[in-house]
Amino acid sequence: MKILLLGCNGQVGWELQRSLAVLGEVVALGSSPAQGDGSLCGDLGNLEALAHTVRTLAPQVIVNAAAYTAVDRAEREPERAHAINAVAPGVLAAEAQRLGAWLVHYSTDYVFDGSGSVAWKEGDACAPLSVYGRTKRAGELAVAQCPRHLVFRTSWVYAARGGNFAKTMLRLAAERETLTVIDDQIGAPTSAELLADVTAHALRQALANAALAGTYHCVAGGETSWRAYAQFVLRQASLLGVPLKAGPEQVMPTSTANYPTPAQRPLNSRLDTDLIRRTFSLHLPPWQSGVQRMLQETLGHNKP
Ligand SMILES: NC(=O)c1ccc[n+]([C@@H]2O[C@H](COP(=O)([O-])OP(=O)(O)OC[C@H]3O[C@@H](n4cnc5c(N)ncnc54)[C@H](OP(=O)(O)O)[C@@H]3O)[C@@H](O)[C@H]2O)c1
Repeated sequence: MKILLLGCNGQVGWELQRSLAVLGEVVALGSSPAQGDGSLCGDLGNLEALAHTVRTLAPQVIVNAAAYTAVDRAEREPERAHAINAVAPGVLAAEAQRLGAWLVHYSTDYVFDGSGSVAWKEGDACAPLSVYGRTKRAGELAVAQCPRHLVFRTSWVYAARGGNFAKTMLRLAAERETLTVIDDQIGAPTSAELLADVTAHALRQALANAALAGTYHCVAGGETSWRAYAQFVLRQASLLGVPLKAGPEQVMPTSTANYPTPAQRPLNSRLDTDLIRRTFSLHLPPWQSGVQRMLQETLGHNKP
């Protein structure tokens, strides 16, 4: 089986290179032409070359981990965000449908308006607050035009590779006596590793049963605020012997209203994962276990 993976250098794309490898031959493309062999194009901004690439490879599965993810910048670049997050996935959907292939795609809690305190279910009404959220919602709808599709909505993604929230908190806590972190946005930090593993498991089952096509919420277990997440990170770092000026008790709360950003973020980012767990017989571990593992890797304390 041939799998075309797009966005292979992003947080999720990088982990998918590992998790998909056991399912078939993975052709992994990034946005830069230099990453292909010259005839293949993984740039979602180049629709003609993208369609040509899909036709050339004729994969049984397309996994699109590429996206315009700069949430605040999207407010000033709505056309670019729409092109990458909505138009290109629509082209992939049309090409996948032509081939009878599966299209796997990722979306976000930002498709919801963040009201209330109940975890969102897949069928709940979408009302994005930001350009990014609107373009991701449009992408979901475009991908759903391909009968064999899997859309995984997730939240607060992190990976050991590259920058992430936990690393920023560790850097700030090493420099400052106190930190101030938002405590009224609630969600579940979800590792790129978990998403990639779930993708491979779910895809394997879907390949054998087309009725499993659809949209699923996929986040780690439990919930937290950004502040409690930061406190957890600092506590774990202290246990691992990392010297810090600010400990968990020095992480002060603030509200979203006190921390204005160009793009409005949802307060309630809870995603109900009952459907994906039941449908694919999966266990989604608590968010703390993935963060702990990432910290051990990041801080170099993973030796026995
Ligand atoms: N990060 C989160 O907290 C979060 C939360 C909810 C949902 N999601 C969704 O999860 C998926 C994966 O996100 P992620 O965290 O892995 O994002 P990421 O680390 O920002 O990676 C996104 C990837 O998309 C690529 N990309 C951007 N523009 C492109 C273009 N024109 N053509 C081809 N590739 C392009 C980037 O490549 P270059 O750097 O080479 O441009 C990058 O490798 C996305 O659909 C995202 O919307 C993420």
